[in-house]
Parts: sequence; structure tokens; C-alpha cells
Amino acid sequence: MRLVIVSNRVTIPDRHEKAAAGGLAVALREALEKRGGLWFGWSGKVSEAAAAPSVVQRGKVTYAVTDLTEAERQSYYLGFSNRALWPLMHYRLGLTEFSRADYAGYLAVNRRFAKALIALLQPDDIIWIHDYHLIPLAAELRRRGVTNRIGYFHHIPWPPAEVFGALPFAATLASTIAAYDLVGMQTSIDVSNLIGGLVSMCGGRSDGRKVRVGRRETIVQAFPIGIDVEAFRKLAAASVRSATTPLKTTRQSLGERKLVIGVDRLDYSKGIVQRLEAFGQFLRSHPEQRGRVGLLQIAPPSRTDVPEYAELDRMSDEVAGRLNAALGEFDWTPIRVVKKAYSRNALAGFYRRAQVGLVTPMRDGMNLVAKEYVAAQDPADPGVLVLSRFAGAAQQMGEALIVNPFDSHEVAEAIRTALAMPKSERIRRFERLYATIDATDIGWWTERYLDALSGEDSPQPATAAPVAARRGRTAASGKAKAVPSASRSSNGKTSPNRKPRVAKPRARKRAANETATRSAPPAGLPTPS
Ligand code: F6P
Repeated sequence: MRLVIVSNRVTIPDRHEKAAAGGLAVALREALEKRGGLWFGWSGKVSEAAAAPSVVQRGKVTYAVTDLTEAERQSYYLGFSNRALWPLMHYRLGLTEFSRADYAGYLAVNRRFAKALIALLQPDDIIWIHDYHLIPLAAELRRRGVTNRIGYFHHIPWPPAEVFGALPFAATLASTIAAYDLVGMQTSIDVSNLIGGLVSMCGGRSDGRKVRVGRRETIVQAFPIGIDVEAFRKLAAASVRSATTPLKTTRQSLGERKLVIGVDRLDYSKGIVQRLEAFGQFLRSHPEQRGRVGLLQIAPPSRTDVPEYAELDRMSDEVAGRLNAALGEFDWTPIRVVKKAYSRNALAGFYRRAQVGLVTPMRDGMNLVAKEYVAAQDPADPGVLVLSRFAGAAQQMGEALIVNPFDSHEVAEAIRTALAMPKSERIRRFERLYATIDATDIGWWTERYLDALSGEDSPQPATAAPVAARRGRTAASGKAKAVPSASRSSNGKTSPNRKPRVAKPRARKRAANETATRSAPPAGLPTPS
């Protein structure tokens, strides 16, 4: 069976590219290389006329990419996807801008993608569609007679029907979901919100896992996405050894000062402005910390043509400037906001150097920075993750300091707690967090989703996240992995150690799934902090 992946953006790797980029793109590419397959989507470019996709072969993977016209980019990408769906899915009704013209453009691009894709499909292909830009794509394919297995993964949150229903044509759009055989969500909350919406808005019937809308039945299930933990751990460890990485430079520029780090696309869902305010609050409440710690916020600009993003750009400068002026000293700048993207190598080094990882989105599908921060830590002297309860990752990563990002005092106190946390507790929390993200890494996610889509898995309930580690177990699919840990010597000191705590691959996979079932929090409730 050939795998066909469809996503909004597709980056064709250049011929000599090493396995560098990382993240979701690499994991999906690996899945394609393993099975042989096709990756279809937007080239990221704009051209005058909508032309047929250009097709490029790289090993066993065929890339078929199409440009958008400027009108399509405006209506489909900037307009409906990012001014209507994005804020709505992140529970931000006040920022949601709906226009009928944009919605028409969104549907038209999905129709055009469907037509172009059909020309490339084979009868046995299984099709995996990603992200909110492409919700109606399966319905367009079905309308044209495609009967292949089609799955969808929703990378961002799905809000309750009361919020989603504010979108004009909400029921029409939501009901197109039923054209998929399998719908993957990040958390059990998203699963119950989507199912609730399909039942209340579209007249669907559900047993909590399968939903029937009209004549079609679809499975909606949580598949919490992971990262390539091992690769990221190696990058971070290598950054310590290299004499040229930003880690060395950061050490020189910070000296003995402690570092709190935030890394996010410049997006209002990430809570960057609120985070800066919380750091200011921390310095005001704990004046003894002034001059001893700094916040580095890395925030590469994103979707800059959307007005709400331009406004965030301005506000973050204003807030950082105001706080630095009020709290800084001639030889100490409390907050550095750097609006550029860094390589994964560099980020791994920054994470490793930071005593606190501040991941405080107002709402987030998963948030992979939380997982990267943990993967990058020194097992013998790890930093502490402060994590928003509204990130999907909070359902899995209960050993982080869980905070409400709307409460700057609570975040400020968590920063203080993290900075003062004894090493033994930091290690205890780190080991559990690491075991969890390792057990549910990107390989586990891809395999579990594709098994379910191709009907090869055993039935799974719609659960939250596997947290095998909390029960002192490790679980994963595929290869056996070691969990880095710090061992205690007789003098009470800790030393880096890579002690394998592994079960047999099959048993580990079963354990992850079993634990997922038992540890699911009540649907619809955020994980308690
Ligand atoms: O997580 C949602 C998402 O759309 C991803 O697919 C994408 O990588 C990221 O946000 C950045 O978005 P954009 O492609 O609009 O820059």
C-alpha cells in the first residue's frame, strides 16, 4: 500500500540534504520513504495562474506541489484558514474574521487540490491529510468517486460547539469531516469537542469513538503527536561539546546568570506578551532576582500579512521595551526578544543552557517546544519546564509546573519555584517527563496513526495521552531505547548515566496503549494542575 500525504505546505528536500531539518516533516518523510509514497500540497510560492502540480522524484518519494495564485493565497491561506479558522480553533472568537469571499476561496482551493490529486492516485493508496487548511478535502475526493482509506490529522485544538458554531456555515464544514475514515486529534478534549459538535450541529450519532453523520461513519481518536526525542537529545548533548555553538556564546554573554527561555512562532495563541508581563511580575515580586536571571524569547515572525500578527509584533516590542526600561540596569537587560529563526542545533543548545523552559500558550494543540526542552536537558542537572494547562502537552506532561497563563502572578511564582527547585526534584521530574515523551515519540505517533488508518490496530478508545512513565514503565513502538538518567553515587552526587529502562518493543507498545486507556482524564476537562 502506497502512502499519500497531503499538507498545506510541502518543502521538497534538495538532493544533498542530510537528515537535518527534523520535526514533523522529517517523520512524515521517513514514513513515506519506508512505504514509498507521494506528498502533495502547496509549494509555498505564488504564481499568476493556477497550473498543474510540478512533480519531483526523490528516492522512493514523489513530491507533487502546486503554486497558489495571489487571490488564493489571500482567501484560502491568509483569509479563511488564518483569520477565521485559526483564531476560532484557538477559542479566540474576538479575533475571528469571517468573510464569505474567503470561505468561497477556501472551498475552491480544496476543490482544485482534490482534482489535481485524483490524477495522481492509485487504487490501493492510503491518504493522510493534515491540518485545518484541508478539512473539506476528503469530501471533495469522495464526491469525485475516491473510495480509498482517507485519514485526517488536526494539529491544532478543536473548540466546543458553542465556539465553533459561531462560524457561519459551521455545520456544513464540520459535516465534511465524516468523509474521513479516521480523524486524529491531539487530546481527548479535542475528541470530545469535535464529536459533541458533530452530534449537536450536524445531527450525528456517536458511541464516543465512532460518529455517524448521514451515511458515513468516521472514527475520531486522540493521537498525541511526539518529537524525535533521541535525535534532539543528541543535538543538545553535541552542543555542549562543540566550541562554536550558540551554547558557548550564550554562556559567555550570560556568565553566571540564570536563563529562562521561550521559543515560539510570533503568534497570539502562544501567549508571548502575557509571558513577558509574567516575567516582569516575577522580577517585581522578587527584586533579589534582578540581575541574576534573564528571559530569552525567541520569536520568529509568522503570517506577517495578517493584521493581528502585525499587531502582536508591535505589542511584544512595546511590552519588552517598557519592562526593560522599568526594571533593567546599565549592565543587565532582563528580557531579550529575538525575532528570527534559529537552526535546530542552535535551539537545542539554548534549551540545554536554560534553567527554565517557559511554555505558556493561551491555547495550543500540543506544543512541541515543551517536548524539545525536556529532550535537550542534561540528565545530571536538568532544567524545569513551566507549562500552560491549555497546551495539549499538559495532558501528558504532568510533572512540569503546570500554570494558568492568564494569571501572571501564578506564572511568576512558577518561575521562582523552578529557579529554586532542588536538584533531586528536578531530576525526578525530568526522568518521568523524558520517559513519557520517549515512549510516545514521533515514530510511535506515525506508526500508531497509520496502523489505525489501515485497520491494523486493535480497537482503541478515544483517550488522552499515554503516561506509562508515571507508573514507572516505559512504552514505545519499534526500537528499544534507553532512558537517560542521573545515577546517585555514594557521596550523594549525581552523574550522567544512560541506564536502559526498557521493555520488549511489543510489550512497550501494549503498555503505552493500556496506560492511555486507564489514565484518560474525564472528557472535556482540562488536566488539573
Ligand atoms: O500547527 C499548525 C501549522 O499550520 C503547521 O502546519 C505549520 O507548520 C505551522 O502552523 C506554521 O504555519 P504557517 O504554514 O502558516 O507558517
